[in-house]
Amino acid sequence: LSILLLNGPNLNLLGTREPGIYGTSTLADVEETARTAAAARGCTLRAFQSNSEGALIDAIHGAAGTAGGIVINAGAYTHTSIAIADALAAVGLPVVEVHLSNVHRREAFRHTSYISAVAGAVIVGAGIEGYRFAVEHLAARLGAPAG
Ligand code: DQA
Repeated sequence: LSILLLNGPNLNLLGTREPGIYGTSTLADVEETARTAAAARGCTLRAFQSNSEGALIDAIHGAAGTAGGIVINAGAYTHTSIAIADALAAVGLPVVEVHLSNVHRREAFRHTSYISAVAGAVIVGAGIEGYRFAVEHLAARLGAPAG
């Protein structure tokens, strides 16, 4: 079983980007956390980050037939991109949405997510651990045995 991990715009800057909000873990740390959680369930993880909406959509399309499910932190595209939500709906794989910060205690424009309407689960405010929870949930949902 393969899981696709997608990270959107500005998440390549994790570690130095607003550490008071997003913590000091890097994108490499995030991907390693997710990969370790996947491996514990006997799953493989493919990780991709892009600052470009179109590249994220292409990666979602590419998941059809190659991944069992998708973990996605779409960054600010969460709040703006009908196109990413449409791509997730089109592919029809199970989706877990992750946000490092608790978006609900931040600015009002972060309170709405187009992704949530196509996600089976949403994890916010747990920091880097949220990616581990997301992978564990998705692996369980996909029927991967616990490690
Ligand atoms: C984020 C929250 C978004 O509102 C923001 O635009 C991000 C990161 C998070 O992980 O907390 O880029 O998705």
